[in-house]
Amino acid sequence: MSGAHQGSRDQANPLRQLRLDQLRRRTSIKWREYPDDVLPLWVAEMDVPLAEPVARAITDAVALGDTGYTAGTAYPEALAEFARRRWGWDGLTVERTALVPDVMHGVVEALRLLTGHGDAVVVNCPVYPPFYGFVGHAGRRIVEAPLGDELRIDFGTLEEAFRVARSGGRPAAYLLCNPHNPTGVLHTADELTAVAALAGRYGVRVVADEIHAPLVSAGARFVPYLSVPGAEHGLSLMSASKGWNLAGLRGGLLVAGPAAAGDLARVPFEVSVGTSHLGVIAHTAAFRDGADWLDALLTGLDDNRRLLAALLAEHLPTVRYRPGQATYLAWLDCRGLGLGDDPAAVFLDRCRVALNSGLAFGTGGAGHVRLNLATSPELLTEAVRRMATAVT
Ligand SMILES: Cc1ncc(COP(=O)(O)O)c(C=O)c1O
Repeated sequence: MSGAHQGSRDQANPLRQLRLDQLRRRTSIKWREYPDDVLPLWVAEMDVPLAEPVARAITDAVALGDTGYTAGTAYPEALAEFARRRWGWDGLTVERTALVPDVMHGVVEALRLLTGHGDAVVVNCPVYPPFYGFVGHAGRRIVEAPLGDELRIDFGTLEEAFRVARSGGRPAAYLLCNPHNPTGVLHTADELTAVAALAGRYGVRVVADEIHAPLVSAGARFVPYLSVPGAEHGLSLMSASKGWNLAGLRGGLLVAGPAAAGDLARVPFEVSVGTSHLGVIAHTAAFRDGADWLDALLTGLDDNRRLLAALLAEHLPTVRYRPGQATYLAWLDCRGLGLGDDPAAVFLDRCRVALNSGLAFGTGGAGHVRLNLATSPELLTEAVRRMATAVT
Protein backbone atom coordinates (compact mmCIF):
# COMPACT_ATOMS: atom_id res chain seq x y z
CA MET A 1 0.00 0.00 0.00
CA SER A 2 1.42 3.40 -0.96
CA GLY A 3 1.93 6.11 1.64
CA ALA A 4 -0.81 8.14 -0.01
CA HIS A 5 -3.36 5.48 0.84
CA GLN A 6 -2.38 4.52 4.39
CA GLY A 7 -4.97 6.71 6.07
CA SER A 8 -7.78 4.57 4.70
CA ARG A 9 -7.22 1.89 7.37
CA ASP A 10 -8.53 4.22 10.06
CA GLN A 11 -11.54 5.57 8.21
CA ALA A 12 -14.84 3.91 7.40
CA ASN A 13 -15.75 3.63 3.71
CA PRO A 14 -17.76 6.84 3.02
CA LEU A 15 -19.78 4.96 0.38
CA ARG A 16 -21.29 2.71 3.05
CA GLN A 17 -22.47 5.40 5.47
CA LEU A 18 -25.88 6.45 4.16
CA ARG A 19 -29.09 4.47 3.80
CA LEU A 20 -31.38 4.83 0.81
CA ASP A 21 -34.07 6.61 2.86
CA GLN A 22 -31.47 9.19 3.99
CA LEU A 23 -30.31 9.74 0.42
CA ARG A 24 -33.89 10.19 -0.77
CA ARG A 25 -34.26 13.14 1.63
CA ARG A 26 -31.59 15.02 -0.30
CA THR A 27 -32.77 17.93 -2.46
CA SER A 28 -29.92 17.95 -5.00
CA ILE A 29 -30.53 17.02 -8.63
CA LYS A 30 -29.32 13.43 -8.41
CA TRP A 31 -32.14 12.60 -6.02
CA ARG A 32 -34.83 14.98 -7.29
CA GLU A 33 -34.79 14.58 -11.06
CA TYR A 34 -36.63 11.24 -11.04
CA PRO A 35 -39.47 9.73 -8.98
CA ASP A 36 -38.71 7.56 -5.96
CA ASP A 37 -38.99 4.22 -7.76
CA VAL A 38 -35.92 5.15 -9.85
CA LEU A 39 -32.40 4.27 -8.66
CA PRO A 40 -30.27 7.28 -9.67
CA LEU A 41 -26.75 6.40 -10.84
CA TRP A 42 -26.33 9.31 -13.19
CA VAL A 43 -25.07 12.87 -12.48
CA ALA A 44 -21.63 13.21 -10.81
CA GLU A 45 -22.68 13.49 -7.18
CA MET A 46 -21.54 10.93 -4.62
CA ASP A 47 -23.70 9.11 -2.06
CA VAL A 48 -21.38 10.04 0.82
CA PRO A 49 -21.63 12.19 3.93
CA LEU A 50 -19.50 15.32 3.93
CA ALA A 51 -15.88 14.70 5.05
CA GLU A 52 -15.68 15.67 8.71
CA PRO A 53 -12.95 18.36 8.32
CA VAL A 54 -15.02 20.04 5.59
CA ALA A 55 -18.23 19.85 7.62
CA ARG A 56 -16.42 21.34 10.61
CA ALA A 57 -14.93 24.21 8.59
CA ILE A 58 -18.24 25.33 7.12
CA THR A 59 -20.16 24.74 10.35
CA ASP A 60 -17.64 26.95 12.17
CA ALA A 61 -17.99 29.61 9.48
CA VAL A 62 -21.78 29.55 9.73
CA ALA A 63 -21.63 29.74 13.54
CA LEU A 64 -19.44 32.83 13.19
CA GLY A 65 -21.55 34.41 10.48
CA ASP A 66 -18.43 34.29 8.30
CA THR A 67 -20.49 34.46 5.12
CA GLY A 68 -19.17 37.59 3.40
CA TYR A 69 -16.99 38.04 0.31
CA THR A 70 -13.95 35.84 0.00
CA ALA A 71 -10.35 36.99 0.53
CA GLY A 72 -6.84 35.62 0.78
CA THR A 73 -4.83 32.73 -0.64
CA ALA A 74 -5.68 29.83 1.70
CA TYR A 75 -7.29 27.82 -1.14
CA PRO A 76 -4.33 27.85 -3.58
CA GLU A 77 -1.94 27.31 -0.67
CA ALA A 78 -3.84 24.19 0.40
CA LEU A 79 -3.94 22.93 -3.20
CA ALA A 80 -0.20 23.59 -3.69
CA GLU A 81 0.61 21.56 -0.57
CA PHE A 82 -1.76 18.75 -1.65
CA ALA A 83 -0.09 18.71 -5.11
CA ARG A 84 3.35 18.44 -3.49
CA ARG A 85 2.37 15.61 -1.16
CA ARG A 86 0.14 13.58 -3.41
CA TRP A 87 1.47 14.15 -6.92
CA GLY A 88 5.08 15.03 -6.07
CA TRP A 89 4.62 18.29 -7.98
CA ASP A 90 5.99 21.54 -6.60
CA GLY A 91 5.32 23.64 -9.70
CA LEU A 92 2.01 25.05 -8.49
CA THR A 93 2.75 28.51 -7.16
CA VAL A 94 0.10 30.63 -5.51
CA GLU A 95 1.03 33.67 -7.66
CA ARG A 96 0.04 31.77 -10.79
CA THR A 97 -3.49 30.94 -9.65
CA ALA A 98 -6.79 32.78 -9.87
CA LEU A 99 -10.05 32.04 -8.11
CA VAL A 100 -12.91 31.17 -10.46
CA PRO A 101 -16.55 30.57 -9.51
CA ASP A 102 -16.33 26.88 -10.46
CA VAL A 103 -14.53 24.70 -12.98
CA MET A 104 -16.79 25.17 -16.00
CA HIS A 105 -16.91 28.95 -15.59
CA GLY A 106 -13.13 28.77 -15.24
CA VAL A 107 -12.92 26.84 -18.51
CA VAL A 108 -14.97 29.52 -20.25
CA GLU A 109 -12.75 32.24 -18.79
CA ALA A 110 -9.60 30.39 -19.90
CA LEU A 111 -10.99 30.05 -23.44
CA ARG A 112 -11.80 33.78 -23.45
CA LEU A 113 -8.18 34.54 -22.51
CA LEU A 114 -6.71 32.38 -25.25
CA THR A 115 -9.14 32.52 -28.20
CA GLY A 116 -11.60 34.86 -29.88
CA HIS A 117 -15.23 34.61 -30.90
CA GLY A 118 -15.74 31.81 -33.44
CA ASP A 119 -12.35 30.18 -32.81
CA ALA A 120 -12.03 26.40 -32.46
CA VAL A 121 -11.80 24.32 -29.30
CA VAL A 122 -10.67 20.71 -29.74
CA VAL A 123 -12.17 18.00 -27.48
CA ASN A 124 -11.66 14.23 -27.24
CA CYS A 125 -15.13 12.76 -27.62
CA PRO A 126 -16.90 10.99 -26.07
CA VAL A 127 -16.49 13.61 -23.36
CA TYR A 128 -18.30 15.40 -20.49
CA PRO A 129 -21.38 16.90 -22.23
CA PRO A 130 -21.10 20.46 -20.80
CA PHE A 131 -17.86 20.85 -22.77
CA TYR A 132 -20.13 21.23 -25.81
CA GLY A 133 -22.65 23.50 -24.10
CA PHE A 134 -20.21 25.85 -22.36
CA VAL A 135 -17.91 26.16 -25.39
CA GLY A 136 -20.93 27.02 -27.55
CA HIS A 137 -22.23 29.47 -24.97
CA ALA A 138 -18.80 31.15 -24.98
CA GLY A 139 -19.14 31.65 -28.77
CA ARG A 140 -16.38 29.17 -29.65
CA ARG A 141 -16.71 26.23 -32.05
CA ILE A 142 -16.05 22.56 -31.18
CA VAL A 143 -13.70 20.43 -33.29
CA GLU A 144 -13.95 16.77 -32.27
CA ALA A 145 -10.92 14.49 -32.02
CA PRO A 146 -12.49 11.11 -31.14
CA LEU A 147 -10.66 8.82 -28.72
CA GLY A 148 -8.96 5.74 -30.17
CA ASP A 149 -9.93 2.07 -29.83
CA GLU A 150 -8.50 1.73 -26.32
CA LEU A 151 -10.40 4.84 -25.25
CA ARG A 152 -7.06 6.69 -25.16
CA ILE A 153 -6.01 9.82 -27.04
CA ASP A 154 -5.38 9.02 -30.72
CA PHE A 155 -2.48 11.25 -31.69
CA GLY A 156 -3.07 11.00 -35.45
CA THR A 157 -6.65 12.14 -34.95
CA LEU A 158 -5.58 14.87 -32.52
CA GLU A 159 -3.01 16.21 -34.97
CA GLU A 160 -5.60 16.38 -37.74
CA ALA A 161 -7.98 18.20 -35.38
CA PHE A 162 -5.23 20.70 -34.46
CA ARG A 163 -4.56 21.29 -38.16
CA VAL A 164 -8.26 21.94 -38.85
CA ALA A 165 -8.62 24.10 -35.72
CA ARG A 166 -5.69 26.32 -36.74
CA SER A 167 -6.67 26.68 -40.40
CA GLY A 168 -6.52 30.28 -41.53
CA GLY A 169 -4.00 30.95 -38.74
CA ARG A 170 -6.72 31.57 -36.15
CA PRO A 171 -6.04 30.94 -32.44
CA ALA A 172 -7.26 27.59 -31.14
CA ALA A 173 -7.44 25.76 -27.82
CA TYR A 174 -7.50 22.11 -26.77
CA LEU A 175 -9.80 21.34 -23.85
CA LEU A 176 -8.16 18.28 -22.33
CA CYS A 177 -10.04 16.24 -19.73
CA ASN A 178 -7.39 14.85 -17.34
CA PRO A 179 -8.44 12.31 -16.04
CA HIS A 180 -11.02 11.69 -18.73
CA ASN A 181 -14.76 11.82 -18.06
CA PRO A 182 -16.58 9.47 -18.92
CA THR A 183 -13.98 6.72 -19.44
CA GLY A 184 -11.97 7.16 -16.21
CA VAL A 185 -8.78 6.97 -18.27
CA LEU A 186 -5.75 8.47 -16.55
CA HIS A 187 -3.40 10.00 -19.13
CA THR A 188 0.24 8.99 -18.70
CA ALA A 189 3.21 11.37 -18.42
CA ASP A 190 4.30 10.23 -21.90
CA GLU A 191 0.88 10.98 -23.39
CA LEU A 192 0.73 14.41 -21.75
CA THR A 193 4.26 15.18 -22.93
CA ALA A 194 3.20 14.23 -26.46
CA VAL A 195 0.15 16.51 -26.11
CA ALA A 196 2.39 19.42 -25.09
CA ALA A 197 4.76 18.80 -28.02
CA LEU A 198 1.93 18.58 -30.56
CA ALA A 199 0.20 21.66 -29.14
CA GLY A 200 3.51 23.54 -29.29
CA ARG A 201 4.07 22.48 -32.91
CA TYR A 202 0.62 23.67 -34.01
CA GLY A 203 0.37 26.72 -31.76
CA VAL A 204 -2.71 25.33 -29.99
CA ARG A 205 -3.18 26.42 -26.37
CA VAL A 206 -4.00 23.67 -23.86
CA VAL A 207 -6.65 24.08 -21.16
CA ALA A 208 -6.67 21.02 -18.88
CA ASP A 209 -9.80 20.29 -16.85
CA GLU A 210 -8.31 18.41 -13.87
CA ILE A 211 -11.35 18.37 -11.59
CA HIS A 212 -11.18 14.57 -11.18
CA ALA A 213 -7.46 14.59 -10.27
CA PRO A 214 -7.86 13.53 -6.61
CA LEU A 215 -9.96 10.48 -7.65
CA VAL A 216 -7.28 8.04 -8.69
CA SER A 217 -7.18 4.35 -7.85
CA ALA A 218 -4.66 2.90 -5.38
CA GLY A 219 -1.31 2.27 -7.04
CA ALA A 220 -1.95 4.75 -9.87
CA ARG A 221 -0.66 8.31 -9.98
CA PHE A 222 -2.26 11.38 -11.47
CA VAL A 223 0.12 13.49 -13.57
CA PRO A 224 -0.76 17.21 -13.62
CA TYR A 225 -0.63 18.50 -17.20
CA LEU A 226 1.42 21.53 -16.14
CA SER A 227 4.09 19.23 -14.64
CA VAL A 228 5.20 17.74 -17.97
CA PRO A 229 7.98 19.21 -20.14
CA GLY A 230 6.70 21.61 -22.78
CA ALA A 231 3.47 22.47 -20.94
CA GLU A 232 4.62 25.94 -19.84
CA HIS A 233 1.99 27.70 -21.94
CA GLY A 234 -0.86 25.62 -20.51
CA LEU A 235 -3.69 26.45 -18.16
CA SER A 236 -5.34 24.02 -15.73
CA LEU A 237 -8.59 24.05 -13.79
CA MET A 238 -8.54 22.39 -10.39
CA SER A 239 -11.07 22.00 -7.60
CA ALA A 240 -12.01 19.82 -4.63
CA SER A 241 -15.52 19.56 -6.04
CA LYS A 242 -15.45 15.99 -7.38
CA GLY A 243 -13.02 14.51 -4.85
CA TRP A 244 -15.04 15.60 -1.83
CA ASN A 245 -18.53 16.04 -3.37
CA LEU A 246 -18.70 19.82 -3.06
CA ALA A 247 -20.72 20.81 -6.14
CA GLY A 248 -23.15 22.65 -3.87
CA LEU A 249 -20.24 24.62 -2.37
CA ARG A 250 -18.81 25.94 -5.58
CA GLY A 251 -15.21 27.02 -6.09
CA GLY A 252 -12.41 26.46 -8.58
CA LEU A 253 -8.87 27.56 -9.29
CA LEU A 254 -7.37 28.50 -12.62
CA VAL A 255 -3.67 27.58 -12.59
CA ALA A 256 -1.18 28.87 -15.16
CA GLY A 257 2.08 27.43 -16.41
CA PRO A 258 5.06 29.81 -16.22
CA ALA A 259 4.64 31.05 -19.82
CA ALA A 260 0.89 31.63 -19.30
CA ALA A 261 1.26 33.95 -16.30
CA GLY A 262 0.56 36.96 -18.53
CA ASP A 263 -2.70 35.41 -19.69
CA LEU A 264 -3.73 34.67 -16.12
CA ALA A 265 -3.08 38.27 -15.13
CA ARG A 266 -5.89 39.26 -17.50
CA VAL A 267 -8.55 37.34 -15.52
CA PRO A 268 -10.85 40.18 -14.53
CA PHE A 269 -11.78 40.99 -10.95
CA GLU A 270 -15.41 40.54 -12.02
CA VAL A 271 -14.74 36.80 -12.50
CA SER A 272 -12.79 36.02 -9.35
CA VAL A 273 -15.26 37.93 -7.19
CA GLY A 274 -17.88 35.34 -8.20
CA THR A 275 -16.34 32.61 -6.03
CA SER A 276 -18.38 31.65 -2.97
CA HIS A 277 -16.65 32.31 0.36
CA LEU A 278 -18.23 29.20 1.90
CA GLY A 279 -17.04 27.31 -1.17
CA VAL A 280 -13.48 28.54 -0.67
CA ILE A 281 -13.62 27.52 3.00
CA ALA A 282 -14.89 24.04 2.08
CA HIS A 283 -12.40 23.45 -0.75
CA THR A 284 -9.50 24.69 1.39
CA ALA A 285 -10.43 22.30 4.23
CA ALA A 286 -10.75 19.41 1.78
CA PHE A 287 -7.30 19.86 0.25
CA ARG A 288 -5.67 20.71 3.60
CA ASP A 289 -7.31 18.20 5.97
CA GLY A 290 -9.30 15.76 3.83
CA ALA A 291 -6.62 13.26 2.74
CA ASP A 292 -7.60 10.42 5.11
CA TRP A 293 -11.26 10.68 4.11
CA LEU A 294 -10.26 10.74 0.44
CA ASP A 295 -8.10 7.64 0.86
CA ALA A 296 -10.99 5.73 2.41
CA LEU A 297 -13.19 6.83 -0.48
CA LEU A 298 -10.61 5.72 -3.06
CA THR A 299 -10.45 2.27 -1.47
CA GLY A 300 -14.26 2.06 -1.63
CA LEU A 301 -14.25 3.15 -5.29
CA ASP A 302 -11.65 0.49 -6.17
CA ASP A 303 -13.91 -2.10 -4.51
CA ASN A 304 -16.90 -0.79 -6.49
CA ARG A 305 -15.03 -0.95 -9.80
CA ARG A 306 -14.22 -4.61 -9.15
CA LEU A 307 -17.79 -5.26 -8.00
CA LEU A 308 -19.23 -3.64 -11.12
CA ALA A 309 -17.00 -5.74 -13.38
CA ALA A 310 -18.09 -8.92 -11.57
CA LEU A 311 -21.78 -7.96 -11.66
CA LEU A 312 -21.68 -7.20 -15.38
CA ALA A 313 -19.84 -10.45 -16.12
CA GLU A 314 -22.56 -12.34 -14.26
CA HIS A 315 -25.73 -10.48 -15.28
CA LEU A 316 -24.91 -8.58 -18.50
CA PRO A 317 -21.94 -10.36 -20.07
CA THR A 318 -22.26 -8.65 -23.46
CA VAL A 319 -21.79 -5.18 -21.93
CA ARG A 320 -18.20 -4.05 -22.41
CA TYR A 321 -16.61 -2.28 -19.45
CA ARG A 322 -12.97 -1.29 -19.28
CA PRO A 323 -12.43 -0.14 -15.66
CA GLY A 324 -10.50 3.14 -15.63
CA GLN A 325 -7.97 4.16 -13.01
CA ALA A 326 -9.68 7.41 -12.15
CA THR A 327 -13.03 9.14 -11.52
CA TYR A 328 -16.07 7.31 -10.17
CA LEU A 329 -17.61 6.95 -13.60
CA ALA A 330 -18.00 3.81 -15.68
CA TRP A 331 -18.44 4.00 -19.46
CA LEU A 332 -20.47 1.00 -20.58
CA ASP A 333 -20.61 -0.12 -24.17
CA CYS A 334 -24.12 -1.60 -24.45
CA ARG A 335 -24.17 -2.07 -28.23
CA GLY A 336 -24.19 -5.86 -27.78
CA LEU A 337 -27.53 -5.67 -25.96
CA GLY A 338 -29.49 -4.59 -29.03
CA LEU A 339 -31.18 -1.71 -27.20
CA GLY A 340 -30.50 0.86 -29.91
CA ASP A 341 -28.63 4.16 -29.75
CA ASP A 342 -29.98 5.20 -26.36
CA PRO A 343 -29.88 2.28 -23.90
CA ALA A 344 -30.16 4.70 -20.95
CA ALA A 345 -33.71 5.54 -22.06
CA VAL A 346 -34.54 1.82 -22.15
CA PHE A 347 -33.02 1.15 -18.70
CA LEU A 348 -34.98 4.05 -17.24
CA ASP A 349 -38.22 3.01 -18.86
CA ARG A 350 -38.04 -0.75 -18.32
CA CYS A 351 -36.25 -1.13 -14.99
CA ARG A 352 -36.18 2.29 -13.32
CA VAL A 353 -32.43 2.89 -13.25
CA ALA A 354 -31.22 6.37 -14.23
CA LEU A 355 -27.90 6.48 -16.09
CA ASN A 356 -26.45 9.16 -18.38
CA SER A 357 -27.23 8.66 -22.04
CA GLY A 358 -24.08 8.23 -24.12
CA LEU A 359 -25.65 10.36 -26.86
CA ALA A 360 -24.88 13.56 -24.94
CA PHE A 361 -21.13 12.78 -24.93
CA GLY A 362 -20.62 13.51 -28.63
CA THR A 363 -19.39 11.26 -31.42
CA GLY A 364 -18.81 7.72 -30.14
CA GLY A 365 -21.51 7.97 -27.46
CA ALA A 366 -24.33 6.11 -29.25
CA GLY A 367 -25.13 2.74 -27.70
CA HIS A 368 -23.25 3.66 -24.50
CA VAL A 369 -24.26 4.73 -20.99
CA ARG A 370 -22.32 6.37 -18.17
CA LEU A 371 -22.85 4.83 -14.75
CA ASN A 372 -21.89 6.62 -11.53
CA LEU A 373 -20.41 4.06 -9.16
CA ALA A 374 -19.98 6.42 -6.18
CA THR A 375 -22.71 4.66 -4.27
CA SER A 376 -23.01 1.77 -1.83
CA PRO A 377 -22.19 -1.76 -3.02
CA GLU A 378 -25.82 -2.64 -2.26
CA LEU A 379 -27.27 0.02 -4.56
CA LEU A 380 -24.73 -0.80 -7.26
CA THR A 381 -25.73 -4.47 -7.06
CA GLU A 382 -29.42 -3.62 -7.16
CA ALA A 383 -28.90 -1.33 -10.18
CA VAL A 384 -27.12 -3.99 -12.25
CA ARG A 385 -29.70 -6.64 -11.27
CA ARG A 386 -32.45 -4.28 -12.43
CA MET A 387 -30.59 -3.50 -15.66
CA ALA A 388 -30.38 -7.23 -16.41
CA THR A 389 -34.16 -7.46 -16.25
CA ALA A 390 -34.41 -4.89 -19.07
CA VAL A 391 -32.88 -7.31 -21.54
CA THR A 392 -34.48 -10.61 -20.54
C1 LIG B 1 -14.77 16.99 -16.31
C2 LIG B 1 -15.66 17.87 -15.49
N1 LIG B 1 -15.48 19.20 -15.50
C3 LIG B 1 -16.26 20.03 -14.77
C4 LIG B 1 -17.29 19.54 -13.99
C5 LIG B 1 -18.18 20.50 -13.26
O1 LIG B 1 -17.42 21.29 -12.40
P1 LIG B 1 -18.05 22.59 -11.73
O2 LIG B 1 -19.33 22.14 -11.08
O3 LIG B 1 -17.01 23.06 -10.76
O4 LIG B 1 -18.29 23.55 -12.84
C6 LIG B 1 -17.51 18.17 -13.94
C7 LIG B 1 -18.61 17.62 -13.13
O5 LIG B 1 -18.92 16.47 -13.14
C8 LIG B 1 -16.67 17.30 -14.70
O6 LIG B 1 -16.85 15.97 -14.70
